[in-house]
Amino acid sequence: MKSIQFFKCLSACILGWLMMPGLMAQASSRHDEMPPRERLSLNEGWKFFKYASGQQSDALIYDVRPELQENNELRVADAKPTEAVTVAAQQVVLKPWILPSANAFINDPAKRHVRPAGTPGADFPFVQASFDDAAWRSVSLPHDWAIEGPFQTGWDSEVGGGMGRLPSNGVAWYRRNLDIPASDKGKSIFLDVDGAMSHAMVWCNGTLVGGWPYGYNSWRLDLTPYLKLGASNQLAIRVDNPNHSARWYPGGGIYRNVWLVKTQPVHVAQWGTCVTTAQVSAASASVNVAVTIDNDSRSNAVVQVVTDIYEVDEAGHRAAKPVASLPVQKASVASGKQALVNGVVVLSKPRLWGPLPSQKPHLYLAVTSVMNKGRLLDAYETRFGIRDVVCDPQNGLLVNGERIAIKGVNQHHDLGALGAAFNVRAAQRQLEILREMGCNAIRMSHNPPAPELLELTDRMGFLVVNEIFDSWERKKTAHDFHLIFADWSEADTRAFIRRDRNCPSVIMWSFGNEVGEQYTDEAGAAVAQRLYDFVKEEDPTRPTTLAMNFAKPHMPLPAVPDVIGLNYQGEGIRWEPEFEGTDRIRTAPQYDAFHARNPNKMIYSSETASAFSSRGVYLFPVTPAISSPTRDGRGGDSKTCQVSAYELYAVDFGSSADKVFGSIERHPFVAGEFVWTGWDYLGEPTPYYEARSSYTGIIDLAGFKKDRFYLYQSHWRPELPMAHILPHWTWPERVGQVTPVHVFTSGDEAELFLNGQSLGRKMKHPYEYRLRWDEVVYAPGELKVVAYKKGQPWAEDIVETAGEAVTLKADADREVIAADGKDLSFITIQVVDAQGRMVPRANHNITFSVDGAGEIVATDNGDATDMTAFPSHERKTFNGMALVIVKAKAGSSGAFTVKAVAEGLESSFVSVRVQ
Ligand code: GAL
Repeated sequence: MKSIQFFKCLSACILGWLMMPGLMAQASSRHDEMPPRERLSLNEGWKFFKYASGQQSDALIYDVRPELQENNELRVADAKPTEAVTVAAQQVVLKPWILPSANAFINDPAKRHVRPAGTPGADFPFVQASFDDAAWRSVSLPHDWAIEGPFQTGWDSEVGGGMGRLPSNGVAWYRRNLDIPASDKGKSIFLDVDGAMSHAMVWCNGTLVGGWPYGYNSWRLDLTPYLKLGASNQLAIRVDNPNHSARWYPGGGIYRNVWLVKTQPVHVAQWGTCVTTAQVSAASASVNVAVTIDNDSRSNAVVQVVTDIYEVDEAGHRAAKPVASLPVQKASVASGKQALVNGVVVLSKPRLWGPLPSQKPHLYLAVTSVMNKGRLLDAYETRFGIRDVVCDPQNGLLVNGERIAIKGVNQHHDLGALGAAFNVRAAQRQLEILREMGCNAIRMSHNPPAPELLELTDRMGFLVVNEIFDSWERKKTAHDFHLIFADWSEADTRAFIRRDRNCPSVIMWSFGNEVGEQYTDEAGAAVAQRLYDFVKEEDPTRPTTLAMNFAKPHMPLPAVPDVIGLNYQGEGIRWEPEFEGTDRIRTAPQYDAFHARNPNKMIYSSETASAFSSRGVYLFPVTPAISSPTRDGRGGDSKTCQVSAYELYAVDFGSSADKVFGSIERHPFVAGEFVWTGWDYLGEPTPYYEARSSYTGIIDLAGFKKDRFYLYQSHWRPELPMAHILPHWTWPERVGQVTPVHVFTSGDEAELFLNGQSLGRKMKHPYEYRLRWDEVVYAPGELKVVAYKKGQPWAEDIVETAGEAVTLKADADREVIAADGKDLSFITIQVVDAQGRMVPRANHNITFSVDGAGEIVATDNGDATDMTAFPSHERKTFNGMALVIVKAKAGSSGAFTVKAVAEGLESSFVSVRVQ
């Protein structure tokens, strides 16, 4: 028999229906009484203070950090991770009081932490109710203190290009009052933090409660013993975010939602349901629901547990009546302990969850009621889906029996000009634009996402590889996760899985990206095996994976995960002759070798491409190759820090999209790819670290499509008639010069015309994904392409030489937005000529203003080198385009009008209604 403690670790995740309207309001017959569980947003009413410089702080540190011994700023992304540096604490550190927060996620009772005596920090002014924080800044959560800038420019800046040149480093405090009514007597009261960057520590009424160092996981603290009832309570949260902690922009602060959860003392545990499905077919599916119940009271309890299963419609509303109910289970829960009940029900004709476009992402809601003598103690909702996922080593990914080629992208957690502060609409916009391209899968590189992002992928039918670590014991940057690996890797791994394991979109758990343990043979594999075991204990139903750019088929590391994720190795790394003799990774194409050595493991590319481009920048000459490293004169320009959008240039270890398509098509056992990256992201601006943001996105940081978008669309949506010409055709300085024209089309043939004259009809040969007319001599006028599929006309595209810039043109992404203070309007500005054609290299300075019920949140243009702070109301267009992000004032109605003004151009206005 397994012990309760073991089952405790099998307890599962729950995600509330955070965005689904009306779910909480609808009561089933069992829920006629007052809701026994409350989940209240704690996002409003915070006071915020940050020490002036990244170096300044108080002494209330989590732990000492090693001195910086090297500057990793110019570290190549695939450089070998190095050994950790050990430090001995010379001063009082608060770690011993924080470690017990991990206890619910440590299996072995002997390894759980005991809280030491004492209350560190109790005399520190910021944690006391009497402290006057009137001079502190008022903020709402989610909050990213760094995104407003300013950008730090130059090679000697404190925060370099790698971390996005924004002041994410430093120590800050958040304070808030918490009124707890006397009627909460007897309740358990928890603080749920979805994510704080990083090393958060929480004081309640002057006592250190606990905290959580890893910035990407969600966590809970039990405030019950520290709260005063019928009184105002003081919460104070210290966040300490080190510089050199990441290879990208982490953001800083409490950047996700925060909740106050109130329950009866006998209640469903944190993430305490685990819904698994088996024998899934169109005819039936068995649904197993395991429920972990906590008893925080002083007496033993006997409870009845019942779970009703409801269908959920596309709008997110659950049906009035359940489609099935699990048999009532009885459980005895001793005081201070947990109990687990497990039940199963068979659903006939289940509505399956599957990825769009060929399937539908049907969802269900399990509503678990915990009763005692007819009294409802808890009601707990779990979103889940019914689907059958098979990782087939020969055929790739099968979802509900259908082979689904993974057409995926990697996504970092930042939302461009909005930073790391999570926003549902901004994330939804990212997914919508990716969907339009034909993308069906997201790899959460390299950290657990906001819970609401998984709610979106569940609802929108994207497949997800959920990932937790970029480093284990060995380090990539001086202050990354390796510093806390020994203390936190078990708790972080288990918490990550418990939270998300009911999400149908999650198809695999990735527990490492390009970790240094690839280089340490058996020792590295042992670290992997330990993490693997945690994952499997938490969720035996899903496969695990690792993303490997160095490990070879014969090495011990790839033997550990269930599914093999390859970063760049499938296409080969630096395999071109010009890299002979390099001291970096150099690898022949590896798909066949991995497949031969691991005939029982599915293989997919966890990272492909790492191709670069700057939207609207075209540099000459154009390489005749299908893929090329980026150098000055070969796609790159180190003076302007821009890369040519002919979409042929990549990082040295990467490949163009075309090359990747070919190698995947030649290896049909490969399940598909995750492109590095879908959207540009803040930080890691390879190859130009003077810049602020990446060049690898298919979509730029502002959300504007680079040409590559159409290359992926042509390949990923073959049924969509489309053709796309590049470059733009406004080159007064190139008259008479060779100016190659490339076309991306879902057709198989196309004819190009310049000013009505045919430049020839070309056909895509096997493993070709673009049509190129490399000898075109520029003359102003009209370029037109007519594409054919199977001999029939299929699609056309036209580009014309633009005239003088005359006016601005503003377009909003939606006509109406919600006045909830969160919803956003994304407004695109273009500089156009008298005929309404975009002027492709226009870089006018625009000033934005808003009338009515709106507020400007940020502006951007997708230029990786633009150091104007994001909140600025002035922004240059970059190659003809700029973006302004506007929110409706909370509680307002009516409309707002955004005005864009530029000297010498006609202004533009756009109105958005507010509801
Ligand atoms: C990979 C790495 C990614 C990113 C990418 C940039 O090696 O896994 O996180 O750094 O390179 O090209």
